[in-house]
Amino acid sequence: MPSGNVLSYIVPMRDHIQLQINSDILKIRGQDAFLTLSDFLRRRRGLVGTKIVCSEGDCGSCSVLCGVVGDSGMQYQPIDSCIRFMFQLDGVHIVTVEGLKQNGELSCVQQAMVDCHGSQCGFCTPGFVVAMTALQQNRPANQPASESELREGLTGNLCRCTGYSSILEAGAVAAEQSDSASLVPAFELSPDARRVPIEVTATCGDAKHRVYSPTTVAEAVDFLSRHSEAEVKIVAGATDLGVQFNKGHIAPSDWLDLNRVAELEKCEIEDGCMVFGARATWTDVLLLAESTVPELYQVMKVFGSPQIRHVGTIGGNIINASPIADSLPFLFVCDAELTITSASGERTVNINEFYSGYKQMDLTKGELLTSIRVPLPPANRNLRLYKVSRRHDMDISTFTGAVWMELDGEQIANVGIAYGAVGPTVLRLKQTEEFLRGKSFTIETMTAAGDVAVKEITPITDVRGRSDYRFQLARNVLKKYYYQIEQEESQSVA
Ligand SMILES: Cc1cc2nc3c(=O)[nH]c(=O)nc-3n(C[C@H](O)[C@H](O)[C@H](O)COP(=O)(O)OP(=O)(O)OC[C@H]3O[C@@H](n4cnc5c(N)ncnc54)[C@H](O)[C@@H]3O)c2cc1C
Ligand code: FES
Ligand code: FES
Repeated sequence: MPSGNVLSYIVPMRDHIQLQINSDILKIRGQDAFLTLSDFLRRRRGLVGTKIVCSEGDCGSCSVLCGVVGDSGMQYQPIDSCIRFMFQLDGVHIVTVEGLKQNGELSCVQQAMVDCHGSQCGFCTPGFVVAMTALQQNRPANQPASESELREGLTGNLCRCTGYSSILEAGAVAAEQSDSASLVPAFELSPDARRVPIEVTATCGDAKHRVYSPTTVAEAVDFLSRHSEAEVKIVAGATDLGVQFNKGHIAPSDWLDLNRVAELEKCEIEDGCMVFGARATWTDVLLLAESTVPELYQVMKVFGSPQIRHVGTIGGNIINASPIADSLPFLFVCDAELTITSASGERTVNINEFYSGYKQMDLTKGELLTSIRVPLPPANRNLRLYKVSRRHDMDISTFTGAVWMELDGEQIANVGIAYGAVGPTVLRLKQTEEFLRGKSFTIETMTAAGDVAVKEITPITDVRGRSDYRFQLARNVLKKYYYQIEQEESQSVA
């Protein structure tokens, strides 16, 4: 681990971000580095094809393609440019709807939108075109996206006037027409030969802004320890922070950007555990869960939208500390272990001990969440995860839950239960677990357990649901769990 201020003297620094937008290679310094990407595109580059509607990552009108150099070449993903800061974009290729034209002609996706009448007012159209292009760009030419892939790929894009049939038809036509040619301009930005930290500063009136973008955890915690007097805002995907920034809830002078710290991207199975770097994105987690924890895969598939999952991170979800964060009930019942790092070393904490109240947690200034270790749930645990929301896709949870039970014949040998959106933090239901241990696994037991569960929770009434509805869900989920397991057992016997 680093000690003291040594790194600050020996590490060379870059004072600008470099990136490619469509075919132009740019160096970004000063105040521009602190703009959102959508503002930069529209105000500084005149690329007004990118629309801003909600500024909250909810509608996809501002979608652009973000290309990143990966193991298998450039990978392009759609992201919401309204909640992405310029300082997060070093070394990437941003492609806007203007950059998709080929030799002055509309691309096959753009032409299909015209031919299928996929646009009326046109506000959503560039976002749809970008999201459809991403679906085609990342796949072999002879394998067009299926209808379900198209529907899933477009869950982050809303249209308020055309209706989705003609948009989906355009997507299908474009998928059929795509050939092996790349749909994006060539990427010509030279890779950063010396991966050095970046520090960009700007003065705007009396206000001074600084962003530090390290390449290692050691550099990151060294920065935090050297600036303990400042309110440094740590930023990973910015899907929470970008929204808060746009709403004027935060205006930090100092940012610590984790986007260039490769060691925080880990996402793999190690010694029977899922091990995530804090900056593993939901897209990464989803890929790993598909083959290892199908229950997690199902619930994460409806986490936000592709645009949100491509940049939002597991670490951001944990530290944002929302009682409705979708990952938390799973992490609670699996007893996930968090590694917290500071300039003076590392410590670990069980996630069940991490939160002490609404947005209160065991993390001090100068500390960084660096990794999350989740023991893989064994098959005999019968893990089930629940997300109740008013819409299937792209909705914030009204209630979340995770339940597992190990059965010994008819008897409940061991059990884990956690609920979200029923208190100031996600709650582990220890009394309900205690009540269930050793009891027979029957509907009567699960109904009685519901009486214990409702005494452990304190749900409120808000726009997403009344408190009595949440009390009812707390009971019903236990019954649902019983019927799910019973049904599966009877099917396996038959
Ligand atoms: C449209 C939309 C849909 C969404 N849908 C869902 C959903 O379905 N389910 C859900 O649970 N959430 C959802 N979210 C919320 C958000 O996407 C998640 O919480 C996401 O995981 C946050 O990750 P991030 O990397 O973007 O966090 P950021 O915004 O970068 O940071 C969030 C917080 O964590 C802190 N932080 C980040 N990384 C670290 C670290 N390593 N160490 C210390 N502090 C750190 C930041 O300082 C900040 O306080 C949605 C958000 C939007 C805008
Ligand atoms: S403007 Fe709606 S997602 Fe960005
Ligand atoms: S065309 Fe008007 S919102 Fe989609």
